[in-house]
Amino acid sequence: MKLSHRITNITGGGSDGWDVFNKARAMVRAGVAVTELTQGEHDIRTHPVILDAMDAAARAGKTGYSSVPGELDLRDTVAARIQDRTGVPTSRDNVLITPGGQAALFAAHNATCDPGDVGLFIDPYYATYPGTIRGVAAIAKPVQAHAEDGFQPRAAEIDAAAEGATSLLINTPNNPTGVVYSRNTLEGIAGVCRKRDLWLISDEVYDTQVWEGEHLSPRALPDMVDRTLVVGSMSKSHAMTGSRCGWVVGPEEAIAHLINLATHTTYGVPGFVQAAGNFALNEGPWLEDEVAAPFRRRRALAQQVLQAQNVLRLVPAQGAMYLMLDIRATGMNGEAFAYALLDTHHIAVMPGESFGKAAAGHIRVAMTVDDAGFAAALKTLCDFAGQIAKTRAAE
Ligand SMILES: Cc1ncc(COP(=O)(O)O)c(C=O)c1O
Repeated sequence: MKLSHRITNITGGGSDGWDVFNKARAMVRAGVAVTELTQGEHDIRTHPVILDAMDAAARAGKTGYSSVPGELDLRDTVAARIQDRTGVPTSRDNVLITPGGQAALFAAHNATCDPGDVGLFIDPYYATYPGTIRGVAAIAKPVQAHAEDGFQPRAAEIDAAAEGATSLLINTPNNPTGVVYSRNTLEGIAGVCRKRDLWLISDEVYDTQVWEGEHLSPRALPDMVDRTLVVGSMSKSHAMTGSRCGWVVGPEEAIAHLINLATHTTYGVPGFVQAAGNFALNEGPWLEDEVAAPFRRRRALAQQVLQAQNVLRLVPAQGAMYLMLDIRATGMNGEAFAYALLDTHHIAVMPGESFGKAAAGHIRVAMTVDDAGFAAALKTLCDFAGQIAKTRAAE
């Protein structure tokens, strides 16, 4: 039977970029001890106080259908949080609770793109971006950011690509680069959105993990509130990746239609998960600070290790749980380097090529193993790169 082009075209026919990761997992299954610096998954689990809140809610009966747009208390909490952080008046009518940020990304593109519309996204990108846009039968069009700009996208290049486009998807703090977009970058992006009448879909799932500079939500920029959909999630901020609790924040009209979409797709998020999410957000910053602290520490450790060598170059590591390393001095591309590192030292990293063309010649290192293991793996990685560069220089 014929399947729809929309569903069969989600990966665009190419690899999904997870080949090195899959090989590492196969090695682990075969009993090899692999240091996995691949996935954006914390090495800690959801805090017990959040689990207690989840358990109490489930036992108190929150196991039936929940309210599809999200429970009122959680929508109020998210609205207040966003208003506090951005100064933009926000109410529960601006908030839809979704099963994680990924569902929010899909919902946001459903809200903005018709089949055949062009959805722009910035390359390097989080692996699901093009597929999410293709999943709503829109055309996924990348705009490259450049290593020499520290991967801050250029407004002029977005503008040049924006003729006839409908939406632009950005992500700050950024996965995979670890870069936090500057005010200047975001003002440039906002200017293009206004000029080209684009929806801006702003993925802010790493907004609690900023190591340098500050997170600015572009929804707070002039005349952006009516054309911006913010994607948020508790996955990264509260180590709740498995709980699937996120949101879209945007104009009331868009949210009203998105509630219809949710009614016909997800039918809401489990009530006990929402109760736990509401509890966690109302605890204030200590929980999210505790989740962010190991990454902040490991970033500092990485800076020390990297200072002692001159082959690998660290892209400004300003936020999120990743480091992006320029490995071009080894003469290898990211994929060849990642495979060689895995085969030789049983350390798994993601090739930059998994995240688009702009990150070719780079690798992404997730800071998701314990401090000592992380520092040791990074040291081995640096020594390995150094040996390759030396052999190359001698040839
Ligand atoms: C940039 C970015 N956006 C969205 C997501 C989706 O997160 P979740 O669906 O767990 O909220 C991820 C997950 O890694 C991500 O890195």
